[in-house]
Amino acid sequence: MAEPPAAPDLVRELVRDALQSSPPYLLPHPHGITTKLDANELPFSLPPDLSAELARELAAVELNRYPDPDQLELRAEIAAPLGLAPEAIVLGNGSDEIIQLLVCCFARVRPGRARAAVAYPVPTFAVFRGAALAAGCEPVEIALEEDFTLDFERVDRALTEARPNLVFFARPNNPTGTLWPSRQVAELARAHPDVLVVSDEAYSAFAGDGMIAMAAELPNLMIMQTLSKTGLAALRIGYLHAAPALLAEVEKVRLPYNVGALNQRAALWILRRCRSLLAERCAAVVRERDRLAAALSAMDGLRVFDSQANLILFRVGQAGDGRATAAWQAMCRRGVLVRLFDRPGPLAGCMRVTIGSAEENDRFLAALGDALRG
Ligand SMILES: Cc1ncc(COP(=O)(O)O)c(C=O)c1O
Repeated sequence: MAEPPAAPDLVRELVRDALQSSPPYLLPHPHGITTKLDANELPFSLPPDLSAELARELAAVELNRYPDPDQLELRAEIAAPLGLAPEAIVLGNGSDEIIQLLVCCFARVRPGRARAAVAYPVPTFAVFRGAALAAGCEPVEIALEEDFTLDFERVDRALTEARPNLVFFARPNNPTGTLWPSRQVAELARAHPDVLVVSDEAYSAFAGDGMIAMAAELPNLMIMQTLSKTGLAALRIGYLHAAPALLAEVEKVRLPYNVGALNQRAALWILRRCRSLLAERCAAVVRERDRLAAALSAMDGLRVFDSQANLILFRVGQAGDGRATAAWQAMCRRGVLVRLFDRPGPLAGCMRVTIGSAEENDRFLAALGDALRG
């Protein structure tokens, strides 16, 4: 009897080539980190009295029952302040899942093409590429300018040539913090009515310039937002707004219980009880961002990129001189973790710091200052 194939052989045989050859999404977790500024989270947790009340609320959730598959109460709570009906949004397990749902759903191959294409300017959020590859789509990467602004003409030409099914614009962009104006994105949506244009507004709480109000006039515009960056990253709740016909198709690929009952109940309770607290905290982060940007700009040898998100990207020394990696390692030894992007390409020499509390930001500035001197 023939030997059954080993697991690596099954992988070679059954996993799409593009996925096999793509590296895993790995984040470093050095030991001894006390100041964690690497994941674009809000630095503040719920106050203890509210946490205790929430725990009592969650104790009432019947864990033997499936969650509400329609997520009606939570959809209503999220949609109302946006001026939308509950059925005008679809919920995802984080907006990460929404990205996956979109590339799965809108993957029909255009006549004359081998694969459906998914476009996005680069550098940007890694999940656009990962989701496109996982769905068997062709990633189309459109280079940003050297300062990470968008060359409108270049994007326009790329969309004409590649005719992607979807194009993602992270507004503001991660990891650069750049906000590509809604006016330009709307113009691209108008110029390419057969391409679905997605405004990924994960960081809109720190930027404004959201596009939800434009969706009524632009049938190919889709908007994603998330509760993650406003202090609720653990709950994994993202949402999508688009024309009803598009949402109806996305609903067909969404798994019925994609958002757990505890997460639904917690989000509902927090939004009802603490919406203004979350908004105040985002405003505090914006103030800290301005302070941090000024402090970084005053340091020798750094190039600081303008940011409208809860993060700041900066370059240490010159691309390829290794100073960024050395400084990052020195900061880790002092317990401060930021995200390092120091590899060949447009982000060479760059680090991204998430805006933390004032104390965390001070610890970061001190560690960076020492690392640069050392
Ligand atoms: C641009 C962008 N979009 C989407 C996400 C995903 O957010 P979540 O899945 O937490 O809603 C992130 C997370 O960092 C992001 O940077």
